[in-house]
This record gives sequence, C-alpha cells and structure tokens, in this order.
Amino acid sequence: MTDPVQAPPVEPASGVRVVAPAAPGRPARLVVLVSGAGTNLQALLDACSDEGYRAQVVAVGSDRPGVEGLARAERAGVPTFVRRLRDFAGRTAWDAALSEAVAAHAPDLVVLAGFMKLTGPQFLDRFGGRTVNTHPALSPSFPGVNGPADALAYGVRVTGCTLFVVDAGVDTGAIIAQRAVEVAEEDTVESLHARIKTVERTMLVETVGHMVRTGWTVHHRRVTIP
Ligand code: GRF
Repeated sequence: MTDPVQAPPVEPASGVRVVAPAAPGRPARLVVLVSGAGTNLQALLDACSDEGYRAQVVAVGSDRPGVEGLARAERAGVPTFVRRLRDFAGRTAWDAALSEAVAAHAPDLVVLAGFMKLTGPQFLDRFGGRTVNTHPALSPSFPGVNGPADALAYGVRVTGCTLFVVDAGVDTGAIIAQRAVEVAEEDTVESLHARIKTVERTMLVETVGHMVRTGWTVHHRRVTIP
C-alpha cells in the first residue's frame, strides 16, 4: 500500500533563529520567485500598494521566461530576472546564479509563490530562515507538485494550504500558517485548486505582512510571529 502522507523530519534543520522586522522607517524588501500565473504575486503587489502594509516587492525572479508572473511584475514596474536551469552547467551553478540574483536586491524576505524548483544549499545558506513557500495542501499531507490532485484522489473531505519556512526538503519546512478548504462532492482538480488558491492568497498576504512588521522566530519546527 502506498501512503502519500509523509512525516515531517524529526530533527530541525537549525536551532533558534530570530529574524528582526525590517528596519523602522522603511518598508520590508520582498523578492518573489514565480514559475507561472503569479496570482499569489499579484496579491502581494496589490497589498504592497498600501503604505500601511509596510512591504515592497523589489524584484521578481523566475526559472522560466515568458510567464504571466513576470508580466505582472513588469506591469507593476518591478525589476525582473530569469535564471533557467538549462542555461547552467548543473544545479550547483544554477543555485549560485539564483542566489546572486536574489542577493542583488537585498531582500528582508524571499517569497516562493508558485516557484516550481527546489532551491539549493547555497540559496539556503544565504536566505534560510527568511525564505517562505506556499503549498496548496495541508502539510504534511500531499507534498510535491500535485497537492490538489493527490488530495482529491485520496478522498479527503478537507484540504487547504500551508505557508512554511523553506528547508532542503519538498514542502517539509516549519509551518507558519495553514488554512482549511472543504472538498466539494463535484470538485475537479481545477475547481478545488482554484478555491484553495483564493484562500492561499489571503493567507500569504496576511502572514507575510505580519512577519515583516513584527519579525519572527523559528525554533525547531515552531514558528512564532509575536
Ligand atoms: C499555488 O497554488 C502554489 O501553492 C502552487 O502553485 C500555485 C501557483 O499559483 N505551488 P500562482 O502562480 O500564484 O497563480
């Protein structure tokens, strides 16, 4: 029997890590990485247009050229960059190039919003503890790229979305926030994922805003936002 539910790692990747809020007097600098439609990015761009949100998307990066997420950034006047895996000798070189591109924008927080690649060790050395990712399932259930389809196939009645601190695993990082979504009798993968994404965007905007305004602590698998 195949069990699609993976247990989280027992040992944390790091001990206590305290991340201070962005310096008072300036909005937090967000770098957002996307691979597709970028509706989560759009939600952040919209939130950042309110000064009270206290954050600014300073750059948007992608592993794929021509995606709508990049177009959304360009329409908002936000600088973009693309680092395609196939343009590099291998994952190590790509990881270094992606890390450099992100570092050039001096982010307080990196947001993976539908970014369909695993970041590598160099990226985690530089941005670990301050890189978050959003996943369309209730972790630790249904990790990977088919969260909504796997939840539907399993027959769960409730699924949802998870915001987590990125670590070296696939959707295994310490959980920051989760929201539940009921599965309807007539749901298809598309209808379920669309409903999850609506909730996911709100979770992302609310939680990222809270994090950058107050800072956060990662202690083992426990994330605290005061
Ligand atoms: C989101 O559901 C995200 O969790 C998943 O892919 C989707 C991206 O949506 N990894 P978008 O590109 O932000 O519209």
